[in-house]
Amino acid sequence: MKGIKFDFTNLFQPNVETGVTEDQINDHKDKIKSIIEEIIEEKPGFMSVPFNRKWIDNVLDIKNLVQSFESVVVLGIGGSALGNQALQTALNPLNYNSMNSCDRKTPKVFILDNVDPDFIASVLDQINPKKTLFNVISKSGTTAEAMSNYLIARGILETYGVKPSKNLLFTTDPENGILRKIAEEENIRCLEIPPEVGGRFSVLTPVGLLSAVAGGIDIIDLFNGAKDMYDKVINTDVWENPAALNALIHYILYNEGYNISVMMSYSNRLLLLADWYRQLWAESLGKKVDLDGKEVHVGQTPVKALGATDQHSQVQLYNEGPFDKVFTFLKLERFDREITIPNIHCDIPELNYLGGKRLSNLLNTELTGTEYALVEHKRPNMKVIFPAINPYNIGQFFFAYEFQTAVMGKLLNINTYDQPGVELGKKVTYALMGRKGYENMEKEVMSKLEGKKQVIL
Ligand code: PA5
Repeated sequence: MKGIKFDFTNLFQPNVETGVTEDQINDHKDKIKSIIEEIIEEKPGFMSVPFNRKWIDNVLDIKNLVQSFESVVVLGIGGSALGNQALQTALNPLNYNSMNSCDRKTPKVFILDNVDPDFIASVLDQINPKKTLFNVISKSGTTAEAMSNYLIARGILETYGVKPSKNLLFTTDPENGILRKIAEEENIRCLEIPPEVGGRFSVLTPVGLLSAVAGGIDIIDLFNGAKDMYDKVINTDVWENPAALNALIHYILYNEGYNISVMMSYSNRLLLLADWYRQLWAESLGKKVDLDGKEVHVGQTPVKALGATDQHSQVQLYNEGPFDKVFTFLKLERFDREITIPNIHCDIPELNYLGGKRLSNLLNTELTGTEYALVEHKRPNMKVIFPAINPYNIGQFFFAYEFQTAVMGKLLNINTYDQPGVELGKKVTYALMGRKGYENMEKEVMSKLEGKKQVIL
């Protein structure tokens, strides 16, 4: 079987005592069927992305230009950065940016998804602005973090006497927003973010594709993976549909008190898929009101972990703490690089069992050990198995989880595609930073902040 596999074994009784039963799945069979039919009918924006060749073509049209730069710096945050990071980390060597240019062949790729001056300055120290393409990504064109980093990049370009239109590329809404306006006025190259695709579902649009192409990633195979997964996830039989089955099991367990979904990657390269998933699951499903306007406060908290590293920090809690976590392991079958542990200290039993073994074998054996222990401690867990890391498999993963999130949103009866809970903090930032139009809010916020009884030790 080509592509990724979903191993649900340890989510079911009797394999794990606290797992779901086949009857529970069968009880929801009709509901899942109608949910899938509804999603196909309603066609949320992300559903048509793998079939829109336009996004690939738009990016491939400028591939040579993009790859002619020494560095490409993405300025975006949230859905305008997390997919990019996941792609680069998974599909390029972990030391990609520090490789010499002969081995690397394509530009260095940096993703600036914060406004921490230490972080920004450390990246700026590593680039030559004249030889850098700054890809500003913002669907709204209003996000303070992306916009301040844009202004910083532009300021640097101006200081270096570089015409902004030469080294800037905007990825934004096709019509609206300030970036589009600036681009039109100054003839700055632009890529479109389809308005119907929400930020956290946009990795397979030019949001994720431009930096992927900059890093030499095969975006056509990424799409092929997503398309093949599409065919799987539109199957209305829950027993044949990995994304729907996964959503349903998470839903059943959530209703039994499993409020936390841990995604634990046993591959450093796959780890940022868990970061991408964290946003998708949290921002899409964490909602105050349901579609009937009822206050519900739902959502399962996604947590990211790395095996084997976090065995030595989290697994004690996972095995013996509250029964509130469902686990997803990301397992890699074939690593690109291999290291064999040398046979040294052959007379020391604490060391000699390791000699001659491959590191990948040790890592995956540790995964088996963790799984086994979780089952023994009655903790439901599953695996997404990657036969290898390649664009096809990563494309499959993205699409499966996007669809799974859509199904979970329907099960929870919430709006999966909005994020009202993010707005207040954004507005307060505007107010406190002196943005015009937010003067009243500034006063209100200041009086509330100053009126607080301080407890600072
Ligand atoms: O998923 C989302 O909609 C958000 O995480 C956005 O991607 C994030 O807030 C950045 O927004 P924008 O692309 O408008 O700058």
